[in-house]
Amino acid sequence: MNESFNLLIIGVLLISSLIIFIYTELTRHKLFRTEKKNREYRAIVTEALTALVNAVDAKDSYTSGHSARVAAYSSLIARRLGYDEDFTENLYYIGLLHDIGKIGIPSALINKKERLTDDEFDIMKKHTIIGRDILIEITTINNLTRGVSEHHEHWDGSGYFGKKGTDISLEARIIAAADAFDAMTSDRSYRGMLPLEAVMLEIENCGGKQFDPAVAYAVIEMIKSGSLNPYFTASAKPLKYPAKSASVPVWS
Ligand SMILES: [Fe+2]
Repeated sequence: MNESFNLLIIGVLLISSLIIFIYTELTRHKLFRTEKKNREYRAIVTEALTALVNAVDAKDSYTSGHSARVAAYSSLIARRLGYDEDFTENLYYIGLLHDIGKIGIPSALINKKERLTDDEFDIMKKHTIIGRDILIEITTINNLTRGVSEHHEHWDGSGYFGKKGTDISLEARIIAAADAFDAMTSDRSYRGMLPLEAVMLEIENCGGKQFDPAVAYAVIEMIKSGSLNPYFTASAKPLKYPAKSASVPVWS
């Protein structure tokens, strides 16, 4: 009797273990498939957005690849500031789209080598509002319209529309610094890229004025440590979301 009871217990345990094993494997397989699908969806979204913003960047002969670089720099800065991957990846998409409104600005104005007149500057300022209006229906990217419409605001209120400090969304404050970093480290019609020492000095001088001081500090520390490097489009590969495992940016 005891022996049959023991056998029954062992049988029940074996069957339970088998059920748990099968259930775990099925769940793991399902999760793997979901993750694979998520990765595929993300790739499709990123590629579609990149193609779209490349069309905008192409309007400016000197800013080819600008949006993808700003997106990548912004995510690296956010990570350095300690934000999680959800925020960082979300910010990457906002960075990609930050200048989408330039689609509504005449190319002649975007490519003008001389200083813009006040009237022209007023037209150029509208790219932030046009961008916001284009993107208003997209609700899956958090703070998208604010990140786009506020990316030319300054910490001290001296930007496009006078917003200041933490009234400016964090996303826009980070993109503003990434945008400036890219502008300074890219060739322009009127100058070549600036040396990194000059870039650091400029960002330091503008911390607390143009830039959120915490963001400016993070950028300077990143440049010093070599974890924020200018990406040269000459290497031709599209700039993707920077892998988290990379201790320094790997542009691939
Ligand atoms: Fe802009």
